[in-house]
Amino acid sequence: MKTIGILGGGQLGRMLALAGYPLGLRFIFLEREADCPAGQVAPVVVGDYADPAALARLAERCDLATFEFENVPVEAVQRLRERVPVHPSPFALLSAQDRLHEKTLFTDLGIPTPDFVAVASFIELQSACKRLGFPAVLKTRRLGYDGKGQVVIHSAAEMEPAWRAVNGVPSLVEQFVAFRRECAILGVRAADGREAFYPLTETHHTRGILSTALAPAPHASAALDTLARDYVKRILDRLSYVGVIALELFDCGDGRLIANEIAPRVHNSGHWTQDAGVCSQFENHLRAIAGLPLGDTTPHGYCGMVNLIGDAPALERLVSIPQARVHLYGKEPRPGRKLGHVNFCLPTAADREAAMRATLAILPPR
Ligand SMILES: Nc1ncnc2c1ncn2[C@@H]1O[C@H](COP(=O)(O)OP(=O)(O)O)[C@@H](O)[C@H]1O
Ligand SMILES: [Mg+2]
Repeated sequence: MKTIGILGGGQLGRMLALAGYPLGLRFIFLEREADCPAGQVAPVVVGDYADPAALARLAERCDLATFEFENVPVEAVQRLRERVPVHPSPFALLSAQDRLHEKTLFTDLGIPTPDFVAVASFIELQSACKRLGFPAVLKTRRLGYDGKGQVVIHSAAEMEPAWRAVNGVPSLVEQFVAFRRECAILGVRAADGREAFYPLTETHHTRGILSTALAPAPHASAALDTLARDYVKRILDRLSYVGVIALELFDCGDGRLIANEIAPRVHNSGHWTQDAGVCSQFENHLRAIAGLPLGDTTPHGYCGMVNLIGDAPALERLVSIPQARVHLYGKEPRPGRKLGHVNFCLPTAADREAAMRATLAILPPR
């Protein structure tokens, strides 16, 4: 029986473990806090990713490893790889951690992405804005998530406060895209090159945080789905990737998709896969890294997901929503914090719309 070591003990790790137990897999996590979402369902080595002794303790107790958090230091993954196989690779992790590497990868692969300029000083920011025009988006190259580490700049007067807001760290300026909607696609690749793709998913954000997802994306043509698949396939192949990857896209509404970013891990836009009658993104990630055949990715209905952010209704109310599948992460409420989500998989698009509306209606204001 294989034990999988996971760097990071948040909800993604917890859901990986919950997906792996039916297959007889075991789990062990490395995380600074013992009482983390994953710690409620699996043992935790309490320690820092940067601590070689903690990594050695993890390696001793697992057969292979992965990560659920994209900001784990690449050196930690490299160190762990000296002892056990780790997927995805440090190279894939590095490509996703730095927005400059990420956007360069898109460009190299012929995947459209907003025009961008790397900046390391205020002078460079000024000339980048001059080149790209307003509005522009200033994003730190590293460590941004859930809309943190980025500012939209509408005019020359906003350049100085924006530069201060990112503390003058190395950043990218990119063109603001007037997209029609946001989408994401999940791909999974096994070590032998076999691949599978989930359908294009429509995503909605509130203050930079994913709030709802719809899959398959409403009114997405087969051509649009194929285009998204083709883009994520190029990335999987170039990185010789093993595991699940997410590609966030802007849908321009005219047949074009523009790549925003990748996440080298299971992703919030794919949580609906847990209740879609298919092999979930969590199980497929485990299958890929454990060398097992990949599972079915075609949903059995119209799927939707509503995130529970900041504060959640009482469990009694959540489970009273007809057909709701409730997933809570064992976290204390805090503004902006992801506490859980609710999934639906229903026979018609109208049923899905109604169920999601009913769920949103009982959420605290956000
Ligand atoms: N170039 C852009 N044009 C328009 N909106 C953008 C652009 N870049 C980001 N956004 C908006 O900000 C959100 C968060 O940006 P993203 O680059 O995905 O960072 P994060 O790592 O925080 O998810 C996106 O989902 C999108 O709504
Ligand atoms: Mg994003």
